[in-house]
Amino acid sequence: MGAMTGRVYVRAELADCSRRGRVVIVPLQLLQLLILLQLVLSAVADGICGLDVDKEGCQWEQQTSKLLITGGIVVNADRQQQADVYIEDGLIRLVAQNIKVSDDVRIIDATGKFVMPGGIDPHTHMEMPFMGTQTSDDFFTGQAAALAGGTTMHIDFALPIDGDIAAGYESYVKKAEKSCMDYSFHMAVTTWNDNVAKDMENLVKEKGINSFKFFLAYKGSLMVTDEQFLQGLRKCKELGALAQVHAENGDAVAEGQARIFAQGITGPEGHALSRPSLLEGEATGRAIKLAQFVNTPLYVVHVMSTDALDEISRARAAGVRVVGEPVASGLALNDSVLWDPDFMTASKYVMSPPIRPAGHGEALQAALANGVLQLVGTDHCAFNSKQKAAGKSDFRLIPNGVNGIEERMHIVWDLMVNSGRVSVMDYVRITSTACAQIFNIYPQKGAILPGSDADIIIMNPKGNTRISAETHHSTIDTNIYEGWSMKGNIETTISQGKVVWDKGHLNVERGVGRYIPLPPFGPLFDGLDKLDSAQLKAFRAPVQRAVE
Ligand code: URP
Ligand code: ZN
Ligand code: ZN
Repeated sequence: MGAMTGRVYVRAELADCSRRGRVVIVPLQLLQLLILLQLVLSAVADGICGLDVDKEGCQWEQQTSKLLITGGIVVNADRQQQADVYIEDGLIRLVAQNIKVSDDVRIIDATGKFVMPGGIDPHTHMEMPFMGTQTSDDFFTGQAAALAGGTTMHIDFALPIDGDIAAGYESYVKKAEKSCMDYSFHMAVTTWNDNVAKDMENLVKEKGINSFKFFLAYKGSLMVTDEQFLQGLRKCKELGALAQVHAENGDAVAEGQARIFAQGITGPEGHALSRPSLLEGEATGRAIKLAQFVNTPLYVVHVMSTDALDEISRARAAGVRVVGEPVASGLALNDSVLWDPDFMTASKYVMSPPIRPAGHGEALQAALANGVLQLVGTDHCAFNSKQKAAGKSDFRLIPNGVNGIEERMHIVWDLMVNSGRVSVMDYVRITSTACAQIFNIYPQKGAILPGSDADIIIMNPKGNTRISAETHHSTIDTNIYEGWSMKGNIETTISQGKVVWDKGHLNVERGVGRYIPLPPFGPLFDGLDKLDSAQLKAFRAPVQRAVE
């Protein structure tokens, strides 16, 4: 764990070449000591990211605010074209062929490569207190990992403190001060009272929150009742905020856990057995119907099963405004891993809802390809093996969560593009554009257009990628995609107009990440008032009756 954290920090520090230019007078012995230290540091750096770190670092430091990406295929969700992209002061200024620039512009040759909007991960948990511990990645290490994998923005779930969402929001504002890339928050609502309602309003109107997550699972901690959920849905509708739901039947899960454990099934496989997909289907259907009853849009997070998918598909076919978000782990893996005889291996896959038996992931991929599901998240909620060991003799105590923020863009490329399931334009849509649209920040994010933020990736479809805990940037010591090898490599990540990842070198800066406010009444709310009045008309009520 420490090695990986160190890696990011060391790189960030070595990049500070300004120190090398200073003239400092020091005694000879001290000078020798400094030279020795320098040699040790170089050796460490060699083991970390190559001897050219210092040289690279200098190049990083002198980064210009002007970049020109030439010769690539620029891909947006709706079209792709051969074009150059000119960037200045963090914004995309021009997308055109053969752009001519002055000498002070850094040129990046993208011939034969795809130039695409940086990924946006709609679902992460940095530094989150959960199940008696805290997620291992914070807003700096998690984001550094994200940038190394081509994700340039994420929306993290801020948790309330003892039900207090205003206090929870403030604590996340503090945690996120160390950010090195752009981010926003969803706010979780875990109880209901007048203060929550008032604070929701303030968060939407003053703080740039436009989505609230309700947990129908995690009984005794985060779970809300249907009554509380209904109140929350009504408030979301009034505020133009998107209601999000973790859909599992929490009462049934609690009963299932107790029963499976009592049967002597104490290992990670018990996690899957105690909360089968029908409980996810039931809660998804219930949540959709409650949102339909209120006539407000609903976003179902981490859709893991065909049971949930069927509910979403049916509702969408009937015109209900429901968005389904699969996550990389659910698309890529199946539950056989939970039966691994090695606890450490099996426990790293424990998340909720659980990774499902073979067949579910493939169905989710198909739904993503045909538009029934709209975007891919990760639910990046990283716990190291020491933290997972808390549940060694009781699966109910294994902290729920898996990694993914660094891997999502490659996994989705492999599953969806390399397999031929979707076009590169669709890849952009499901990894970036749809998220920006749903959360109402398009085209500031999610597009390569003049005026958009310069968050860009360059993907070499002929490059190679191999995922491993040995090389990843998350702080955890395991990786659920260990050994995953594929064609296609995100060679360059540009965040806020700066090259932060280039051919294996990461250059991130603590504190430069910006909070991106999310405005309410996004596109999912368009025309809702008309539907409301149509429904009112259809009531044909109150009936005028003669007074006796
Ligand atoms: O296992 C998971 N998903 N952990 C994070 C919390 C949540 O439910 O999203
Ligand atoms: Zn959840
Ligand atoms: Zn989550």
